[in-house]
Amino acid sequence: MNRKILMIAFLSVLTIGSSLRNVVKAQQQIVVGAEQHRPQFHFSPKEHWMNDPNGMVYYKGVYHLFYQYYPKGTVWGPMHWGHATTKDFFHWQEKPIALFPDSLGYIFSGSIVVDEQNTSGLGKNGKVPLVAIFTHHDPKLEAKKVNTFQNQSIAYSLDEGNTWEKYSGNPVLPNPGITDFRDPKVMWYEAGKKWIMTLATKDRITFYSSKNLKEWKKESEFGNDLGAHGGVWECPDLFPMEHNGKTVWVLLVSINPGGPNGGSATQYFTGNFDGSTFIPNSKAEKWLDYGTDNYAGVTWSNTGKRKVFIGWMNNWQYANQVPTKKWRGAATIARDLVLDQIAGDFYVRSVPVKEMNAYLKPVSKKQALTLNKEIDLSAYTKDLNGRIKLDFGFNTLNSMEIALSNKEGNKLLVGYDTKTKTYYIDRTNSGASDFEKGFAKKHTAPRIAKSESGKISLILDVASAELFADDGLTVMTDIFFPERPIDRIKISGAGKQKLTNLAISSIPSFK
Ligand code: FRU
Repeated sequence: MNRKILMIAFLSVLTIGSSLRNVVKAQQQIVVGAEQHRPQFHFSPKEHWMNDPNGMVYYKGVYHLFYQYYPKGTVWGPMHWGHATTKDFFHWQEKPIALFPDSLGYIFSGSIVVDEQNTSGLGKNGKVPLVAIFTHHDPKLEAKKVNTFQNQSIAYSLDEGNTWEKYSGNPVLPNPGITDFRDPKVMWYEAGKKWIMTLATKDRITFYSSKNLKEWKKESEFGNDLGAHGGVWECPDLFPMEHNGKTVWVLLVSINPGGPNGGSATQYFTGNFDGSTFIPNSKAEKWLDYGTDNYAGVTWSNTGKRKVFIGWMNNWQYANQVPTKKWRGAATIARDLVLDQIAGDFYVRSVPVKEMNAYLKPVSKKQALTLNKEIDLSAYTKDLNGRIKLDFGFNTLNSMEIALSNKEGNKLLVGYDTKTKTYYIDRTNSGASDFEKGFAKKHTAPRIAKSESGKISLILDVASAELFADDGLTVMTDIFFPERPIDRIKISGAGKQKLTNLAISSIPSFK
């Protein structure tokens, strides 16, 4: 009898235990559920599809981000311009859709300028017009194989970017017969008192100029015989930067496919621009980011000498298949671009925007250690919900590896290999990857810095890793899809390197 009661009690404890576990599991699934893999401090739309950042403009204390958006689905479709604003690149406010497709087609990528002097005549009653210059992509002409299906058009806003009116004389730059004719990035060229449009035209860049944003004249072409050509050129950006008092022009060109680790990526050129022609000062191929997941990025306009960049944190190779449910696509962390010179050659470094510092919460004391055995940092990182910044300094950078994992056994490896002088991110066993054959891979990037010492920052936000090595000379952005966020971190290294700095910070959720 007693044994029977005991047995019943034991069994009910077991069932209660297992049903409790089921409840907990179900709750976790609800928490994770539709929001699994949601970045917590990067911009991503509440729902539906996004790709390229567009029309980034700073105006009256607000950074506007528009983006390629399909509000009816989570795969690419008829493109609109979504809209979000921020003052610090971390708190984002999603706004109503800014531009809808019309009889001229979908609204493809483009830029926005502040037409301070009302050169366009679109301003009224003393209101400064913000003018958007974008590509109209006509799917009907495309289907008919008429090669003039992409044309440049404009729209304007008289209420600081909140609402937009398309110009009645569109398109302002009709297609001369080039199948890929898109993604205008416009800037004011003060020395010539004119606007310059940098346009991706298939396998090259074409520069146009205008006095009023409505009539455009071809200036020159660049790049059909230079740089990477594994795919079509897209989403360019042209701007001056300074280094030791010298002005150097930087030309960003996204390319798809043909990136250094497959699929889409962004290359750049440095040189001189005289208002008409861009002359590169080096033939070397340079990449703004060697990872697979920073595409179509450009800089904000109207920010003076500061150049802030944001990219689409994805790759056309698998963008339509990544395993998120309510939304697809996110932006990279905003980055300050800095011009640098190494062994006589100019490079563009990318560093997380300085606004980030205000949100970092140190969870470890800054310390110096010898890296002669594996160091387990999990005590610091186990409760951070996958929102982590790691900063390491090395007296002499030698082979080293940071292993990031969770109890599910998902593992992301980030490291440096002295033999090949390459940094790497290996996402082979980092979580879900069956949505695309080429996803589970190791990606590499050359070390550009020439110094013995090394510096590495790594930013994790649930489903992304952004590696800034040597103060952003070598950058790698990779997305990955662990079953639950990373909470265990270990670092190991060869050859008794000294870690001159080790700092771990948590980053809040802005959701
Ligand atoms: C780049 C791109 C652009 C185009 C847009 C369409 O990712 O292909 O060239 O304007 O996306 O959504």
